[in-house]
Amino acid sequence: MKNSHYFANVALGAALIGTGITDAFAAEPTIRELAKERGRFIGTILNSEWFNDAIEPEFEEIHKTQFNVVVAENEMKFDATEPVENEFNFVKGDKMVKYAQENKIRVRGHALAWHSQVAGWVSSNYSGQKEKLLAVLKNHIEKVVGHYKGQVAEWDVVNEAINDDYNAGWRSNGSVWYEGIGAEFLDSAFVWAHKADPKAELCYNDYSLEWGLREGSKASFVVEQVKRWKANGIPITCVGTQTHIEIAHETTPQNVRALAKALAELGVTLNITELDIGFPKGEAGKLTAADYAKQGHLYRQFMDVFLEEPNMGEFVIWGLTDAHSWLDEQQGKTEALLYDRQYKPKPAYDSVMASLMAHPATDVVSPYDSKLFIDPQDSTETDSTIAIKAVASPASLSMRVSGRTLFIAGANSAKVEVFDMQGRPVFSGKSEKGSVELKGIAEGIYMVRVRDGSSSLVKRKNIYGKNRVASPSRGSFFHIKKRPSRFSEGTLERNY
Ligand code: XIL
Repeated sequence: MKNSHYFANVALGAALIGTGITDAFAAEPTIRELAKERGRFIGTILNSEWFNDAIEPEFEEIHKTQFNVVVAENEMKFDATEPVENEFNFVKGDKMVKYAQENKIRVRGHALAWHSQVAGWVSSNYSGQKEKLLAVLKNHIEKVVGHYKGQVAEWDVVNEAINDDYNAGWRSNGSVWYEGIGAEFLDSAFVWAHKADPKAELCYNDYSLEWGLREGSKASFVVEQVKRWKANGIPITCVGTQTHIEIAHETTPQNVRALAKALAELGVTLNITELDIGFPKGEAGKLTAADYAKQGHLYRQFMDVFLEEPNMGEFVIWGLTDAHSWLDEQQGKTEALLYDRQYKPKPAYDSVMASLMAHPATDVVSPYDSKLFIDPQDSTETDSTIAIKAVASPASLSMRVSGRTLFIAGANSAKVEVFDMQGRPVFSGKSEKGSVELKGIAEGIYMVRVRDGSSSLVKRKNIYGKNRVASPSRGSFFHIKKRPSRFSEGTLERNY
């Protein structure tokens, strides 16, 4: 394997700095350095073994060197944080937050309202009792999100609430929350989480979202719900696609791209939250270099999509080393991660690096720079345990650009903002009587956001027309500030 062990490379780089020969043999960059330059977060879980001090020392060494976002495998789930009613246990979660702060790693919180890994007392005491269950969920969210206020950047507020039917709908069997409360538990959970930490990003997270947007699919159901949530002022900012896939699932990266684009229109980010690309367990021991190369190719395609879609922010893999993965025991899959059982980077690691290097920082939009996609609207704030009523009213705003004129349907007057593809604001104004002239913008592709108070719409638009001013690429109208990059052209052309 080329560029094999990063420890060796770091050591080599460090030794050479001492001799002054740094250019040709500089230390390998790490994934987190490249992610940071691109305004993105790439990470993996802290396995339960880490929390129990039962993991090899290489684990943490690699984890903190290579990654800049983290999530707990099990330790922030309901049964871990509230094992007894209203008695909260934050010991393990606090351990992770401390580790993350010491190492400047972003924290995802996982997960608040989920049908699985709920403490047993919830259903034994309150099954089917709507008001009680609402009070339990509200208290849980307030206490957990409140405890981590300002320290957890993003929560999976609701996890896996959609059923596995061909015609997707809410999971109505086997969910204490749905069975007792109904679909309002989702809307309420978002509102309570937002109240407890107004700055945290709030996600809906699920699996099988990578299977495309056909009618009746989980992904299209999610898009419909996000539309409804946004129209109703429910403060969702992100969707998480878990993406637990197999080596044969070749169409999934492009399906994730399509979902990202659909969510961009709604002003919501898409994060890859639990990626693993497993081989069938029966193939363990028979895997060839070509198999691992194929796995690398799939990882690379996901990373390409991630870096190319402006509303994607986080890329999280559900495990670091094949020595510790939930797949072997629970899913009949194996060898799905970036590092092998001896903590050696696999071709998948090199493929992720190759994708990062092929997408220079200047080409990657950070949804966090512009706050374009993560600006929750003023939401319905309520302190009651009465569920937020779900009202099915699809967003009615739409926009169209003709030359320099932006036409808006569905709002008499609206605030219009235009951002370049680096997320910098280039225009701000108001539409009156359904249109506005986009003055002083160079030809090019932009993100346009329209807001009318109750709803907002973000679209990528090509702005062109007579009123030409110099294009940004020619540099004379406004100066595109290059993000500092540590890489010379030569480094970017590195051959993998
Ligand atoms: C898994 C953990 O990895 C296992 O240790 C645990 O036994 C079961 O849960 N979707 C999710 C994660 O949202 O929380 C799951 O994690 C994997 C599937």
